[in-house]
Amino acid sequence: MFQMYEEFASSASQNLAIGLAPMEGVSDFAFRMWLSAICPFDFLVTPFLRATAGYDFRSVPPLFCPEIFDECFHKRLRVIPQFMGSSPEDLCKVALPFLDHSPYVDINCGCPSATVFRNGAGSALLKDPNRFFLFLKCCEEILGQRKYSVKLRVGVASPAEFADLLSALEQLKPALITVHGRTQKEGYTGLSRWDLIQQAAVKLPCPVYGSGDVVDSRTLLEKRAVAPAIQGIMIGRGAIANPWVFWNLKYLNCDCGSLSQQQSNTNVEFGTLYWALGVFALFQEAQFRGPDSVLHVVRTFRPWELLLGVDVQAWQDFYEKLSAHLFVKILQPKDLTCDERVISRLKQITKLLKVGNNSIAQTKLLRTASVAGFFAFFESAVLEKEGPLG
Ligand SMILES: Cc1cc2nc3c(=O)[nH]c(=O)nc-3n(C[C@H](O)[C@H](O)[C@H](O)COP(=O)(O)O)c2cc1C
Repeated sequence: MFQMYEEFASSASQNLAIGLAPMEGVSDFAFRMWLSAICPFDFLVTPFLRATAGYDFRSVPPLFCPEIFDECFHKRLRVIPQFMGSSPEDLCKVALPFLDHSPYVDINCGCPSATVFRNGAGSALLKDPNRFFLFLKCCEEILGQRKYSVKLRVGVASPAEFADLLSALEQLKPALITVHGRTQKEGYTGLSRWDLIQQAAVKLPCPVYGSGDVVDSRTLLEKRAVAPAIQGIMIGRGAIANPWVFWNLKYLNCDCGSLSQQQSNTNVEFGTLYWALGVFALFQEAQFRGPDSVLHVVRTFRPWELLLGVDVQAWQDFYEKLSAHLFVKILQPKDLTCDERVISRLKQITKLLKVGNNSIAQTKLLRTASVAGFFAFFESAVLEKEGPLG
């Protein structure tokens, strides 16, 4: 397990590590498996687990980060669990046992939520550089050097605060640092400051990853030009807008030096989207049935080995296998009866999708009340545009 970190560290020095950013409420286990079925990426960080007093390893929800308990995942994907807390002892009590399965754990010092901030966790840790240092030093003493990474913003109210935060980080020995180049006050407005990310990458002795506003190969190139010293990047909202973004970066644009803007747009056919969303619904259904169900599904089908990309037939085949597994026989997407939470997740994803040149009738899709209704409407829209499915 630990060799993996060494392998990653040496490969990251040659290439840019590209991973999925943590997104609370979005990048749940089913979403992560779905994205890895499209195209495996180098690493992912889970959404944060909030560690409060009295919380321990046994209280961790089984679907928080099941990937790390399965060696098969680790072979393809570096999976890092993220923790958030206002007390280093409480945080480490939950995080420490994860180090038996993961090369390091990530500490959230960036969540901008007002409630989290009031409670002294997330980006509140950035208010006072000295407290920030002491918090992380205490984590380092409990977890060990290079056994933790830190994801932080560039300050609370102003990016001018970043220099002191960097001085604090310079005295520590984390595995890596990820900088989201916005302040807490900015939330998700404005642009991530990749010039500051570069400052961190130059100043700190550990690898530095950048986060913010990478949505395709063009933006990746732009950010990398500003921050050439980084060793990795994370993609968050860009992977919701275009779940094929990792496929696009890996397979369409291996030679990042000769990119054209045209290449940066993944053209996902309507039919591919239909079957891919069907698979997404089935992963969600498996997840809502419970951890055993979803783990059985992923162990049987090993989504991270599939590389389905934009191949419509491959998506349909995979959909059919999954649906037969979950419902004993193949059900067409328009005949699916799923847990009622699946439709909300489908709509959440569809609302933000922007792939290729397709304009699905999103407004009407978003008015459908059930998974079956969603796909019945989608199928009629596909028929109109492209002829029969499959
Ligand atoms: C819905 C949502 C949830 C997020 N949840 C987390 C989280 O749990 N932990 C974290 O460190 N960052 C979280 N972030 C921040 C992202 O990881 C990322 O740093 C930020 O969105 C900027 O990158 P992007 O422009 O690629 O989205 C979240 C962002 C969004 C939009």
